[in-house]
Amino acid sequence: MIDIHCHILPGVDDGPEKTEESILMAKEAVKEGIKTIIATPHHRNNRYYNSKEEILKKVNKLNDELTEIDIPLTILPGQENRIFGELIEDYRKGEILTLNNSDYLFIEFPTSSVPRYAEQLLYDIQLEGLTPIIVHPERNKELLDNPTILYNFIKNGALSQVTAASLCGYFGKSIQKYSKLLIEHNLTHFIASDAHNLRNRSFKFSQAFEIIQKEYGSELFYFFVENAELLSKGKIIEKDIPVPIMRRKKFLGVF
Ligand SMILES: [Fe+2]
Repeated sequence: MIDIHCHILPGVDDGPEKTEESILMAKEAVKEGIKTIIATPHHRNNRYYNSKEEILKKVNKLNDELTEIDIPLTILPGQENRIFGELIEDYRKGEILTLNNSDYLFIEFPTSSVPRYAEQLLYDIQLEGLTPIIVHPERNKELLDNPTILYNFIKNGALSQVTAASLCGYFGKSIQKYSKLLIEHNLTHFIASDAHNLRNRSFKFSQAFEIIQKEYGSELFYFFVENAELLSKGKIIEKDIPVPIMRRKKFLGVF
């Protein structure tokens, strides 16, 4: 299986500080059935700056280290871009890294809001020939309060990725419930770990896929497994027509 969102590179963000911790994470990933990880360090989230060139170097180094100690895990390059106004300019300058050099680009919103310029930027990203993937929409307060915003983004060509731990309930009941609604309404296309460490932000990958298998069956299980594979190869992923979430906030029990 492929985990398309993981902070496994050492010393680049709030993931592991040292290579030893990255190795421990790699071992845990293998135990969870993961064979390939796309390393996605934070970029321009007000704390961390990780340009394309730096990430590529660090991915090569970690792959060499994993090979040396026979850990059967491959790291591919990626980047978790906090949304910012000059993103396209930076992409043209060569500072922005897509997921494994495909046409898929991670976009992260701030925790509590969705910037007003997001709709235009998501559109402009697509004009640039890229497909934006909104990471963990279930953990954004504005999207939780108003699912129509996400519906419109998806309807207009963006994709989204739900975090495994959200689906398992580690971020609370509301986020778990919302994660399931996103799956049920064809509003998400990927499940990934967004793991940062083994203490409190671990993979929860196999647990999330067990939930999907149990609650939604094999078809959706393979939908998510295969989409991660297709993405990693730069191929067109599968998607179903998105459906608006009509339930009221009160019923959802969020905020
Ligand atoms: Fe992340």
